[in-house]
Amino acid sequence: MVARVVTVEPFDIVVFGATGDLARRKLLPALFERDLAGQMPDDARIIGTSRRPLPDEDFRAFARDALGVADGVEDVDQAVLARFLNRLTYVAVDALSDEGWPDLAATLKVGEDRVRVFYLAVGPDLFDPICARIGAFGLVTDLSRVVVEKPVGKDLASAQKVNAAVGRVFREEAVFRIDHYLGKETVQNLMALRFANALFEPVWNNAHIDHVQITVAESIGTAGRAGYYDTAGALRDMVQNHILQLLCLVAMEPPVSLDADAVRDEKLKVLKALEPINESNFAQMTVRGQYRAGASAGGAVPGYLEELGSGESSTETFVAIKAEIGNWRWSGVPFYLRTGKRLASRVSEIVVAFRPIPHSVFDDHAGPIMPNRLVIRLQPDEGVKLWLMIKDPGPGGMRLQHVPLDMSFASVFGVRNPDAYERLIMDVVRGNQTLFMRRDEVEAAWRWVDPILDAWRASRDQPKPYTAGTWGPSAAIALIERDGRTWTDDA
Ligand code: BG6
Repeated sequence: MVARVVTVEPFDIVVFGATGDLARRKLLPALFERDLAGQMPDDARIIGTSRRPLPDEDFRAFARDALGVADGVEDVDQAVLARFLNRLTYVAVDALSDEGWPDLAATLKVGEDRVRVFYLAVGPDLFDPICARIGAFGLVTDLSRVVVEKPVGKDLASAQKVNAAVGRVFREEAVFRIDHYLGKETVQNLMALRFANALFEPVWNNAHIDHVQITVAESIGTAGRAGYYDTAGALRDMVQNHILQLLCLVAMEPPVSLDADAVRDEKLKVLKALEPINESNFAQMTVRGQYRAGASAGGAVPGYLEELGSGESSTETFVAIKAEIGNWRWSGVPFYLRTGKRLASRVSEIVVAFRPIPHSVFDDHAGPIMPNRLVIRLQPDEGVKLWLMIKDPGPGGMRLQHVPLDMSFASVFGVRNPDAYERLIMDVVRGNQTLFMRRDEVEAAWRWVDPILDAWRASRDQPKPYTAGTWGPSAAIALIERDGRTWTDDA
């Protein structure tokens, strides 16, 4: 099956932090893939900037290396590679002074009528000075857009500051706050599943759904980012953005269309309906963990504190939360959320667990009747499984089995799933904000997260230790088992 590709309008993308980790691992490979797919117009340009001077040739060499380290692009088509590298130029620009900005302005002058994307692949402390200079040097055109990477703040107050700084220069319609989970193929499929089928929506509520689990488990540790990670922790790094966005897509009301604001209005309502977790209930509703040395991917790995090179830290590398949504559809349906580093395996999935049948007509020989489950797996092996009870085939009476109706996308469709960044960058060029977070959404998410952080801080409890390579502290298992349910690790 061949994916349909529509070439986008001519554009210039200015990448701030062009020699950084994100540009190397994600942005340059994503842009290259889109070029390879034929989606980039001939005259699209990629303008790298950062503080240190670098000849164009060296930036191109950096990009070539970046493509070498990206998944699946070893066997590069040389003609496309040459075309892609030719699009790259580099301008040294200092975010904290006016140095280099006139050069950037001159470079952009030739493409004044094109879509212009400013990609802030830099630390959040540079968002304000960079936006201010983009404004001061008159670089914002009608077709300009800015992409803001996470973290957007570390709490509500700092997020509001970032949003205000960006908002002084760009209209909200031009601001693209990226959450790369929204660009993942299966996340898109969640919307297709819910809103392109008549089957699910009528049972998508507390009369039929018992609970929902969202797991984003990683086997890696802090992967060379311990410095940043220690200021964030799992709640800020994964829950405030990725996991709450997934929760919103599961829980939102059907939007009237897929227009950006129609979808984001519905997500915002979910965020606002989240029941507060604060000092009065955090001990029942949350579990924090921190990994100790253990084994992962077959080898011994150090603990978090060793990775950090410090004897103490109360930063959580694991969190489990029982979240509740106070509205008619979801009241009484817990959403169990968990995420962590150095867990037993890398798996991200959403499990929608339906209620048991009300009455069994089968006798004891039939075996237990398990409730239906819809499992939406984001990674690895993206796909959807609907667990059903069927009759054990063949003779031998009526015996029942719990089996998955399996839609593994890669094997069924045989197409390559684009990386989330490929889709999202092209959406920015097209001006489609549906998969990006609006200002009020980000702030609403912080409004729910802040009291949890405050309660943890005030309690002075330390995160519970867990051994690397396990599923987190035993308290996280108790969190769900207290309610007579279990984490689903067998999907
Ligand atoms: C990032 C977090 O946003 O998402 C990282 O900062 C995390 O800590 C990453 O590892 C996970 O993304 P993915 O796409 O690998 O699941």
